Amino acid sequence: MAYNLLKGKRGIIFGALDEKSMAWQIALKCHEEGAVFTLSNAPIALRMGKINELADLCNHAVVIGADATSSTDLEQVFAQSMEVLGGKIDFVLHSIGMSPNVRKKIPYTETNYENFLKTIDISALSFHKVMQSAMKLDALNEWASVVALSYIAAQRTFPGYNDMADAKALLESIARSFGFQYGFKKKVRVNTISQSPTLTTAGSGVEGFDAFFHYAEKLSPLGNANAEECADYCLTLFSDLTRKVTMQNLFHDGGFSFTGVSTELVEQLLTKQHEA
Ligand SMILES: NC(=O)c1ccc[n+]([C@@H]2O[C@H](COP(=O)([O-])OP(=O)(O)OC[C@H]3O[C@@H](n4cnc5c(N)ncnc54)[C@H](O)[C@@H]3O)[C@@H](O)[C@H]2O)c1
Repeated sequence: MAYNLLKGKRGIIFGALDEKSMAWQIALKCHEEGAVFTLSNAPIALRMGKINELADLCNHAVVIGADATSSTDLEQVFAQSMEVLGGKIDFVLHSIGMSPNVRKKIPYTETNYENFLKTIDISALSFHKVMQSAMKLDALNEWASVVALSYIAAQRTFPGYNDMADAKALLESIARSFGFQYGFKKKVRVNTISQSPTLTTAGSGVEGFDAFFHYAEKLSPLGNANAEECADYCLTLFSDLTRKVTMQNLFHDGGFSFTGVSTELVEQLLTKQHEA
């Protein structure tokens, strides 16, 4: 059911690769809620992914290629978006992450530092660059909302998450530091959503993903949140209903982050103990 929550709003959505992507679901919901927006992804993702299919589903949204580590590319995204959408921007989604160390299965303790720097640049610094580019061009309206997607490995250790954990810790810190500056300067809100493990291309690249997906499902009182549910939550942050929420890392994980252990898991462990 749509509520017209984003009617009249202009946005930019970074990171939709295919229908499993969180950004894909968020774009569909933004469209349903009446927003107009551009879509952006890395040039290679435009060639390999299905972003044009998504654009067609969203009233032929304009697709703009940009490497999120390049400030020049990002400034171009903001300039072009304001031009095609007919004014300043009201919401921005940063749904970007990649770790060459994760991809190449290099253990955290044996990290390749060149890869590590790439992980940080793509997955965290790009968030700073997005906002710096927007500020430089004065591209955001007052009370605009900027959201990036994070994961609880920023606070608690999940060994398979590798250097992405450090990138997420920095991403959340950038939300606070830039959020403070942008809030005073222009009343812009900046938040991260810390999402449950979700079956996407980036998600399933993480070692042991299936195991911790099922573990989180069993531990969370409400179960894991899926990509569509993440999209619903994201809409509230883009809407005018959350105008005083900023500099926060907001857990969207069915209660996982504040649960110590579940009765079901304890019972399973007890059964195993009795069997041994
Ligand atoms: N899937 C999960 O379990 C999960 C959980 C919590 C948070 N997240 C976060 O959600 C976000 C989106 O990931 P997803 O799970 O939808 O996977 P995804 O693979 O669909 O999206 C990742 C996107 O990052 C883009 N990207 C990579 N390098 C880029 C670059 N240099 N410039 C521009 N774009 C680039 C990719 O093209 C892709 O579209 C990421 O930040 C991820 O860490 C995912």
